[in-house]
Amino acid sequence: MTQRDWKIVNPGGSRRVVVTKELPGDRWLQFLTATDCRVEIALGDEILSGAEIVAALGDHCDAAIGQLTESWSAETLGALAAAGASLYSQCAVGYDNVDVAAATRCGLPVGNTPGVLTETTAQLAVALTFAAARRIAEGDRMMRAGEYHGWLPRLLLGTLLYRGTLGIVGAGRIGAAYARMMVEGHKMDLVYFDVRANEELEKYISDYGAFLAAHGERRVTCRRAQALRELLDACDVVSIHAALTGETHHLIGAPELAAMREEAVLVNASRGPLVDEAALVTHCRAHPRFRAGLDVYENEPDMAPGLSELDNVVVVPHLGSATTWTREGMATLAAANVAGILNDWPVWRAVGGLEDVLPFLEGEEPPRAAPSIVNADALGLPRLAAQAAAERGHP
Ligand code: DGY
Repeated sequence: MTQRDWKIVNPGGSRRVVVTKELPGDRWLQFLTATDCRVEIALGDEILSGAEIVAALGDHCDAAIGQLTESWSAETLGALAAAGASLYSQCAVGYDNVDVAAATRCGLPVGNTPGVLTETTAQLAVALTFAAARRIAEGDRMMRAGEYHGWLPRLLLGTLLYRGTLGIVGAGRIGAAYARMMVEGHKMDLVYFDVRANEELEKYISDYGAFLAAHGERRVTCRRAQALRELLDACDVVSIHAALTGETHHLIGAPELAAMREEAVLVNASRGPLVDEAALVTHCRAHPRFRAGLDVYENEPDMAPGLSELDNVVVVPHLGSATTWTREGMATLAAANVAGILNDWPVWRAVGGLEDVLPFLEGEEPPRAAPSIVNADALGLPRLAAQAAAERGHP
């Protein structure tokens, strides 16, 4: 890449930070310039290859902020460590593109951006659920094509999800937020599958059930499935919220699709390779009343052959966290991780939800901490004591 492809902010800064994409908002730059960073930002939409990133890091680099679309392999992270960097900060909550074990071996902290995108991503999953169940994209195409000739009793009939059964695969932050939106909004019963029990979610739904009962309505229920198969044939919607790992690759393949209901809706706003996309195409072709709403793809940005021709599939381009407020917040957290580590500040307490990261996103005096370092414990990095945070007046 040539110098023309880069924008330099605060050229006199004593610490060199490489940022592989332009990020929204200004607050993230304020964190970096306040830490005396010279910020070098790659311009343009093309995804940088590993070799381009290594070239950009050069002989000296104090930190890098990168994207989920890039390969932060052992080689790239090794080059970052060799350039003298103190961390790699990913501008996303998911980090399946980062070889965290290799980073840890190099002594490099890896940052990510939890909390700020939980509700945003859950909302997108809700939008996909209803777009698929209520055939929104088909209706939109029909209108634009001038093919709507008047109301008909059998036109584009979809699926009523109210009081149906919702299945979520992965009941972490985003899965639980999605479940609450669907259960509270549409009074669905919940079945979830996760290696860990989510007692907080179970209690929330039980309390909501009691609230409904107090208002003379039927309770909603929540149960944890012991096996994925147990959830698949019990649910009207199956929404995937698990992280991508070696074990979850193709978690949903041909046998799992075959186990789902004929008119079920499959939603994936997590990571594409969790679903065998070729098997999904085959299944959707053979089962026109089955529907899918996808935000992510097995080989992004490509789609499996045939997927785009299917009327029973709604596809959007990885928009889960795509609101202005959220993307600005992600950039801020990614930069705050850099500032925290370069300033030798401790790591912030474990992030549960938005409340935990709000102090970084708002206000003039953000915490003197790195908001989220995924290998903090493996590297033995100190954490800011909850007590100290409370004394500073943060929630
Ligand atoms: C993430 O942060 O991992 C999301 O996929 C971005 O939308």
